[in-house]
Amino acid sequence: MSFRKIEPTELPGNIIDEVCNKWMLLSAGSASDFNFMTVNWGMMGELWFQPAVTVYVRHSRHTINYMENHDMFTLTALKPGHQDALNLAGSKSGRDIDKLKESGLTAAFVDGCPTFEEAAYTIVCKKMYASEMPPENFLDKEIFDKAYTDTDYHKMYIGQIVAAYVND
Ligand SMILES: Cc1cc2nc3c(=O)[nH]c(=O)nc-3n(C[C@H](O)[C@H](O)[C@H](O)COP(=O)(O)O)c2cc1C
Repeated sequence: MSFRKIEPTELPGNIIDEVCNKWMLLSAGSASDFNFMTVNWGMMGELWFQPAVTVYVRHSRHTINYMENHDMFTLTALKPGHQDALNLAGSKSGRDIDKLKESGLTAAFVDGCPTFEEAAYTIVCKKMYASEMPPENFLDKEIFDKAYTDTDYHKMYIGQIVAAYVND
């Protein structure tokens, strides 16, 4: 395992395919206490003159506590062959289990931020903006009704991409 710094524009693969179809891990916290979860809703591009990502975290997620309490977060694409870990991270809560142990993943840290030895690449982000997504702001009620059958709304976090690493 060797994380090599690249420019965000050099990220491998098709990011839409990576997020939507292959899924990524959102992680936040410190070396002594962090949490992670599978995500497949996210945006990546440029905002406020810099490369940026947006992630959407429902209030029920344990990960939201870590997103709230830390300035940084990472998005990690795993190498192929870790679908079981992605399934677990996307269905079990770090509130209830030792997610790292159960997933079989191995923690690694880049710039002090949590990621995994099994990473294909990791994007390190610094929170720039966080916002609730109030029901009254939805312009398409059908989308709202489909996404929110209860009141477990998302909070959005926009992060500046401060570094990107591929794992050779
Ligand atoms: C493919 C997939 C994508 C997901 N995307 C999101 C997402 O973008 N936002 C979110 O809040 N939850 C998402 N989830 C659900 C969380 O990953 C799941 O609830 C997880 O168990 C939360 O863990 P935590 O409680 O330890 O934070 C997704 C789950 C899967 C399987």
